[in-house]
Amino acid sequence: MSNRKIVVLPGDGIGPEIIAQAQRVLDVVNDSFKLGLSTQVCMFGGAAYDKVGSPLPDETLAACREADAILMGSIGGPKYDAAPRELRPERGLLGLRSQLGLFANLRPAMLYPELAESSSLKTELVAGLDLMILRELTGGIYFGQPRGIETRDGKRVGFNTMVYNEDEIRRIGQRGFEIARQRGSRLCSVDKANVLEVSELWREVMIDVAKDYPDVELSHMYVDNAAMQLVRAPKQFDVIVTSNLFGDILSDAAAMLTGSIGMLPSASLDEQGKGLYEPVHGSAPDITGQGIANPLATILSASMMLRYTLKESAAADAIESAVSRVIADGYRCADIAAGVRGEKTVNTNEMGDAVLAAIHAGA
Ligand code: IPM
Ligand code: MG
Repeated sequence: MSNRKIVVLPGDGIGPEIIAQAQRVLDVVNDSFKLGLSTQVCMFGGAAYDKVGSPLPDETLAACREADAILMGSIGGPKYDAAPRELRPERGLLGLRSQLGLFANLRPAMLYPELAESSSLKTELVAGLDLMILRELTGGIYFGQPRGIETRDGKRVGFNTMVYNEDEIRRIGQRGFEIARQRGSRLCSVDKANVLEVSELWREVMIDVAKDYPDVELSHMYVDNAAMQLVRAPKQFDVIVTSNLFGDILSDAAAMLTGSIGMLPSASLDEQGKGLYEPVHGSAPDITGQGIANPLATILSASMMLRYTLKESAAADAIESAVSRVIADGYRCADIAAGVRGEKTVNTNEMGDAVLAAIHAGA
């Protein structure tokens, strides 16, 4: 295969620890499946701010533009709370998403059968859970203008703007229908059309897009109800498509249903399918440096990268079966309580070892 370049952004907090394990896994499949991947590590987030004064240095952005795909660890931490707003690690991530046009954020929430008891919900409510949240990622209130904090009549006022044009809604809608088509053919569009004009338009456009996908069943739900349904009966959903802010909130709720946010990967794709891949969880400052973080979400993000952007499904399958196997074999990091059935609590590196051993065993 031709030489393809992956930019790796370890970032902050536990980022470097979990990325190290994903890199080991990538190295192994790169060799055994002859993928021809080369990787370049770049500074990003708070780590970059500390070194060069910007969370998204120009060289990092340039390398990401040239790369075929990007694998990120995590960014942010309390240390940066006092940094100027424009220079916080989060702004680096938002800048990367918007500069690269990564508008389609796929956040699968699937439950490994062995982890059903770790869910915050009763086992019967989550057994077999497999849903996909598709979050619009480069528009909406995260980027809408005007925004700011200013003084009006002697009082400080903070404001943001939730705005979508119909093209933005159409393109995320189309992605939603396409993804639903490859799964259970049901798409639920989540909005707040009973209150917000931006949602009224969102709903109208979704209904229009649906005409091109007669084989997919479209439904609509208000976001407050969707939050409730996710914890009441989450298995009713196949694919949820929603705006940036609603998707941010709902995807954290959905993540928790699966036992641990430490298990969930995500992909952020542009119109051509190039993507940034990252675990759904954050930088976990409380356990940073202890070597105990769960690397599986990052390892699964690497596997999503192989599947969605690099079209290497055999290598992705190998990683995903290896992860299922280590879970079935009882390996758990500290984010998931080891129970009474012989599960073993392992550290970050040992989890990496276990996945590598399972890849070798499966090969
Ligand atoms: C996420 C995160 C980010 C977001 C932050 C870190 C900017 O919460 O990816 O869900 O709000 O999008
Ligand atoms: Mg979030």
